[in-house]
Amino acid sequence: MTAHVFLNGQWLPPEEARVPVMDRGFLFGDGVYEVIPVYSRRPFRLEQHLQRLQHSLDGIQLANPHGIAEWMSFVTQLAGEAEWEDQSIYIQVTRGPMAVRNHAFPKQVTPTSVILAEPMSTPPASQREQGIAAVSATDIRWLRCDLKTTSLLANCLLRQMAVAAGCVETVLFRDGLLTEGSASSIFVIKDGVLLAPIKNHLMLPGITYDVILELAASHGLPHEVRDITEAETRSADELWMCSSTKEVLPIVELDGAGVGACPPAKRNPGQTEFGTPGPLFAAMYSWYQEFKATVMRGA
Ligand code: PDD
Repeated sequence: MTAHVFLNGQWLPPEEARVPVMDRGFLFGDGVYEVIPVYSRRPFRLEQHLQRLQHSLDGIQLANPHGIAEWMSFVTQLAGEAEWEDQSIYIQVTRGPMAVRNHAFPKQVTPTSVILAEPMSTPPASQREQGIAAVSATDIRWLRCDLKTTSLLANCLLRQMAVAAGCVETVLFRDGLLTEGSASSIFVIKDGVLLAPIKNHLMLPGITYDVILELAASHGLPHEVRDITEAETRSADELWMCSSTKEVLPIVELDGAGVGACPPAKRNPGQTEFGTPGPLFAAMYSWYQEFKATVMRGA
């Protein structure tokens, strides 16, 4: 339960924060969002998240209802006041209410903006120690996946494919190339090199993706940003997924086959962790945790 919800410039108890049924966010998924991790009450890379929010707003032709400095002060206030030290702060901006249902934008737009905090729940230790299983699917989303829009139906359907198979994530391919996960960025390790897909309109420019590449650079792990084929993904030595809430996790099984040296699944229905992640994951995970303890927490 969140302490306060910011709705259109007002701080309210969650039960009093209401949005009209005619809001285009509700009727059309006409809106954008951000998820900002907060460690020890410090929002991580807030400016980058707000820049990505601006990119998403520009992409849907919606004027930002608040300046960057204003957003920063709202988010910082909530991070300081919510009941948890580590949080996940959610921002959403929609094109607001309309008088009659009409796909075309209203002449007079009054955006709806929401900010709320939830406790940060990092993945269970077993998932990083034994890895997670994933399925793959054709990336059925639209051609502007660089925009973080609230129209997430395709992502939800794709993610549910993983859940239905007792897995954690769905790895997406479009035209024979790796794009990303249903709610995460994906990396391939081959012959000691970290491979990352090129940021373009077919994937979200992940903030954690940047962190992983920066950690690879600062620790001397060879890395390349380039197109990655489906065949390369399936013959990877290691596969990783990352996001603001999942941090970085090893995928040890894809579509029932073991990744790299990981044995294929021997698991009971519903059990999603097993196996032994590869050695480069262990290195990256420890760099990530050191980075989290120092830079993210500001210790
Ligand atoms: N999702 N790709 C997709 C499709 C995502 O939904 C996410 C994150 C990422 C990773 O981005 P970042 O590292 O900036 O969190 C990549 C968030 C966490 C969500 O929708 O809840």
